[in-house]
Amino acid sequence: MKIAIIGGTGNIGKGLAFRLKMAGYDVIIGSRKKEKALERAKECNEIVSKLGGEANIDGMENEKASNICDIAIITVPWEHAFSITEALKDILKEKIVISPIVPMKFKNGFFIYSPPPEGSAGERLARILDSDKIVVAFNTIPASRFAKVDERFNWDVPVCGDDAFAKEVVMDIINSIDGLRALNAGELSNARIVESLTPMLINLAKLNNLKPLGIRYE
Ligand SMILES: NC(=O)c1ccc[n+]([C@@H]2O[C@H](COP(=O)([O-])OP(=O)(O)OC[C@H]3O[C@@H](n4cnc5c(N)ncnc54)[C@H](OP(=O)(O)O)[C@@H]3O)[C@@H](O)[C@H]2O)c1
Repeated sequence: MKIAIIGGTGNIGKGLAFRLKMAGYDVIIGSRKKEKALERAKECNEIVSKLGGEANIDGMENEKASNICDIAIITVPWEHAFSITEALKDILKEKIVISPIVPMKFKNGFFIYSPPPEGSAGERLARILDSDKIVVAFNTIPASRFAKVDERFNWDVPVCGDDAFAKEVVMDIINSIDGLRALNAGELSNARIVESLTPMLINLAKLNNLKPLGIRYE
């Protein structure tokens, strides 16, 4: 299965790229610039090599990556994620699209959830793509720790979406990554709850002087 990470040159893209590759998927890093994608692919392939995996992560422009993938993850800051999805609409509307997007604003020293009129970023993507294959996941993964090769974690990943098959595929992907456990969080309308966990985690870490937090339900 080919997974394209759209905007995969950024913070969350790095951990996703080498960890998905180590889990056995074909991984493509997408970028607005081919050279930037290739550079990040090279960096991630070095990590994969050291870990004993098959170092064949590819890098290319977002549009090409979207064309050849089975599944796309939109890892672009929320302010730009909707316009890039709009631009890739004709390519992505039939595919499973994963949204880790968290719309939030910084106010008075803290982050607050700031959803679009549709109720959540996930629902907005569903509207743009006119698709029920949007799956909201990975929102609560702290990128700085996820990108560290030696980091040890045991995190739950709430997953919501309206298409049962798409959700199952994404939950399988998550469960294949060491240290992650996918939890079914119900329909896409629950995306507003899932997405709003992230500013809370960031604020909790700040207020309590903790390292970036993931979540584990026990
Ligand atoms: N950071 C976290 O801890 C974290 C955790 C969970 C979820 N998320 C979510 O994941 C998404 C990505 O977060 P991030 O921290 O990885 O973002 P980021 O590093 O700031 O940016 C990711 C990539 O987005 C692309 N990009 C930036 N501006 C763009 C624009 N105007 N149009 C198209 N592409 C643009 C860039 O790729 P190119 O320059 O190569 O095109 C950039 O490398 C966000 O929606 C965020 O809410 C983040």
